[in-house]
Amino acid sequence: MSDDIYKEIILDHYRNPRNKGKLTAPDISAQDNNPVCGDRISIDIILKDNVVSDIKFDGEGCAISQSSASILTDMLMDKTVDELSKFTKDELLEELGTPSLGPARIKCALLSLKVLKIGTYQYLGTELPEDPEN
Ligand code: FES
Repeated sequence: MSDDIYKEIILDHYRNPRNKGKLTAPDISAQDNNPVCGDRISIDIILKDNVVSDIKFDGEGCAISQSSASILTDMLMDKTVDELSKFTKDELLEELGTPSLGPARIKCALLSLKVLKIGTYQYLGTELPEDPEN
């Protein structure tokens, strides 16, 4: 896909975010912010038989961080908890279109993935790896 198509996808998710909001009594729930800019993302997940049956994100910030959360939550529906814990940054960046992202924006793009990993590892009761986005 061309850079323009990726930019259009990002803008579409920013203007019309999918899965935005909060869930009541989520099984997995976490939030974090980018300490540099203060942008914030939270993710709530409801599981059924260890599989994502509902997922929402909330937050505020730049187009990349918010659209990345929207895209990520779309990608995670019906995944198992094990798949959530193993979800890689490459999978997300590929969907977002890394060619159009400079290094400064990669952190914006990975904020939602970091929140997912914080929540998933908390749920599993295991320690968060040093580089949780991987
Ligand atoms: Fe803050 Fe993008 S500028 S996360």
